[in-house]
Amino acid sequence: MDIPLALPTISDEMVSEVERVLRNEFFLRGETVAAFEESFAEYVGTDEAVAVSSGTDALHLSLEALGVGPGDAVVTTPATFISTANAIVATGAEPVFVDVDLDTYTIDTEQLETVVDRRDDVAAILPVHLYGYPVDIDAVRSVAGDVPVLSDACQAHGATLRGERVGSIADVATFSFYPSKNMTVAGDGGMVTTDDPNVADMVRSLRDVGRGEGNYEHPRIGYTARMDTMNAAVGKGQLRHLDDWNERRRDVATAYTDGLDGIGDLVLPPDPGEDRESAWYLYVVRTADRDALQSHLEAAGVETGIHYSTPVHLHPPYRDRGFEPGAFPEAERWAEEVLSLPMHPQLTDQEVEYVVESVRGFFA
Ligand SMILES: Cc1ncc(COP(=O)(O)O)c(C=O)c1O
Repeated sequence: MDIPLALPTISDEMVSEVERVLRNEFFLRGETVAAFEESFAEYVGTDEAVAVSSGTDALHLSLEALGVGPGDAVVTTPATFISTANAIVATGAEPVFVDVDLDTYTIDTEQLETVVDRRDDVAAILPVHLYGYPVDIDAVRSVAGDVPVLSDACQAHGATLRGERVGSIADVATFSFYPSKNMTVAGDGGMVTTDDPNVADMVRSLRDVGRGEGNYEHPRIGYTARMDTMNAAVGKGQLRHLDDWNERRRDVATAYTDGLDGIGDLVLPPDPGEDRESAWYLYVVRTADRDALQSHLEAAGVETGIHYSTPVHLHPPYRDRGFEPGAFPEAERWAEEVLSLPMHPQLTDQEVEYVVESVRGFFA
């Protein structure tokens, strides 16, 4: 057996579409970029979607479009991929961390409330739908007051909370199309979704060198952060399969949960319950014996991953900002214990069973 952790699907139809746009459209700003944005907005349920060059750029440009800058604080969790915090730093604002709630892998809303009440410089709250599990944005909003909520949905394409897609329930949301995600653009890419036309227009300008109405009008400093037309062509094709692929991910998650419940000290991912649908970007278990389990699975031909081995506040650039071990104990425990099992729609039932048996074998 040789079972990969993640595996993107590229069909012949997607390849043909890339060839068509390559021969017929401008490499940048082609009609297919607008068409992908339109279909993504429709899928998520927002008025606007703006395609950019990565999930990190989606976060950075959204924060700037919300007016975040030097002197501001943005509250997020240290239990995320480092880009979430890097995007805050890129605006000149300071990240303020709130520990993770290990029952949901999302920001601890009680601690969030304390931080928001205590500080008067919070310009945005940035919860993360980690592993595809939807954050209760309504609970975040209830403590946010007037502070805008930007949700990092970079791992949550298709996840829903109370019937609504996660990209539509915060003020602004961001997605990544990095190749391992639930859908990709066959390269780097990202999307910003929002109902606020001012935020969308500002992101459109910021991604395009700060351009205004005219071609060489630049009312602001911007970036080169557009999505290439060929990437949009792949994304448009991928989006058509997203729901089917996510359904397969759900089936795999159910099979893992049924097969792994109650063994050793293994902690399984939170059950999304009735009112949420996880996008199951990753199926992440926790155990005190994480490294030994990972070696055991590697020897059995099962690729696993650690998302992530260091909480953001303990990476050097954040330590340099004064964060120290012990500051966020739950996130630190999370980083020591998490292990991601293979998760992608091409997994066969036989492969899933093999993964289950291999994990059980370790604890036997
Ligand atoms: C939670 C989270 N935020 C942000 C990003 C950044 O996205 P990208 O790699 O497209 O820049 C990622 C992607 O890996 C992510 O998982």
